[in-house]
Amino acid sequence: MFELRRDAYVNGRWEAGTKRFAVRDPYDGAPVAEVTDADDAMIDAAVAAAVEAFPAWRAKPGPARGRLLRAMAAAMEADAARLAELCVRENGKAMAQAAAEVTYAASFLVWFAGEAERMYGEIVPASQVGQRIEVTREPVGPCALITPWNFPYAMLTRKLGAALAAGCTVVCKPAEQTPLGALAIAQLAEAAGVPEGVVNVVPAADGARAGGRLVAAPGIRKVSFTGSTEVGKLVAAAAVPDLKRVSLELGGNAPFVVLADADLEAAVAGAMIAKFRNAGQSCVAANRFIVEAPVAEAFTGKLIEATARLRVGRGSDAGVDLGPLVDDASARKVARLVADAVSRGALVVYGEPPDGASRLVKPVVLAGITPAMAMWREEIFGPVVGIRVAADEADALAQANDTDAGLVAYVYTRDGARQARAAAAIESGMIGINEGLVSTAQAPFGGIKQSGIGREGSRHGLDDYTSLKYVMRRP
Ligand code: SIN
Repeated sequence: MFELRRDAYVNGRWEAGTKRFAVRDPYDGAPVAEVTDADDAMIDAAVAAAVEAFPAWRAKPGPARGRLLRAMAAAMEADAARLAELCVRENGKAMAQAAAEVTYAASFLVWFAGEAERMYGEIVPASQVGQRIEVTREPVGPCALITPWNFPYAMLTRKLGAALAAGCTVVCKPAEQTPLGALAIAQLAEAAGVPEGVVNVVPAADGARAGGRLVAAPGIRKVSFTGSTEVGKLVAAAAVPDLKRVSLELGGNAPFVVLADADLEAAVAGAMIAKFRNAGQSCVAANRFIVEAPVAEAFTGKLIEATARLRVGRGSDAGVDLGPLVDDASARKVARLVADAVSRGALVVYGEPPDGASRLVKPVVLAGITPAMAMWREEIFGPVVGIRVAADEADALAQANDTDAGLVAYVYTRDGARQARAAAAIESGMIGINEGLVSTAQAPFGGIKQSGIGREGSRHGLDDYTSLKYVMRRP
């Protein structure tokens, strides 16, 4: 049964440590819990536990590892309501979205339970008689999983599921804003009977210090990080001296392209998810709306109508669609981006520019966005729509590619040929065509360009946690 855990989880034990830090409700700043602030010694102990547990865990048959993942998923689903409540308290998101996140998070555990059963190797035809070429997939080793605050459960299970399925052990360092979700998952692992040392969770107030210690730890063989591109580059650099394997799931700058023949009702429905899921705090959030001239006015009008129905408030209150942004820095950033756009000529066509003082940011729709505005290049991570008109299809696709990021793109058009051209032309790891949400356990999630390295979820998700071993054998 789920109960709020506040201590670090190291080697199968709940460790109070010597220092604690406050987790606060983003809605009103009220304290939610005082959580262990893992010091360097505790982080080192967690790495040592993961190293020690690795040989036995990798030796466990894949189906047995899969059974434990399924047990974790079942427990997560059984306690979904309370886990969703906890998520609302530490992250602030609206309750329906917290509930959806619990389901989404559990789906990765189920998916990778299946993958643990299917970690196939290969027998390759050899050139010489008597030779046998055998290829197996071996777990990389103890992994550092560094996760963000925007999806405290799902971003962890997408990594943890793959790592455990592959036979890797893990040390998780959750974001300082939302450590409770990761501790709840550690509790699920403990209750399911995952052996001690296989899953360790070390919350820390200073994420850079703890993350740096973890990435540099000699026992860690692989680092998986989800967060900003800026920090992802630091993580990658820190992994270089020991040539640790790195997976990076970084920022997006998603174009949301609406072509002239699009079903505008469908485009608006997709935009509401792509833009406002999690109050816009997602790396797959639509960041740049690019609308072909003939439908720009009609699309904008319909989008405003739908946006005007959104309710902002405390995530746990009935009828609330958008909770607060996670912290003051996020609120200030969104206000800065809107002010910058307005100062460079953007028109506020719905809502009011946020003041940066409140985390409760109401939706804003801006028209006349140009590449000179910071929000064309930076992730907004808030409920702000910025619309730019495109002269034609070619212009829209060129605009879509005008970014260093390449995580996801959304395109709305009814025309099959235009769909195919857009899918081929847009430089992005994922594309939603007439679809505003592409995230799902069975598909490879990840980016190109500066949006990251590697894929999470799908059968490819296991690749990042395994190495191929080739054996030439004369039986
Ligand atoms: C993210 O924002 O980091 C991921 C969102 C998702 O999995 O849909």
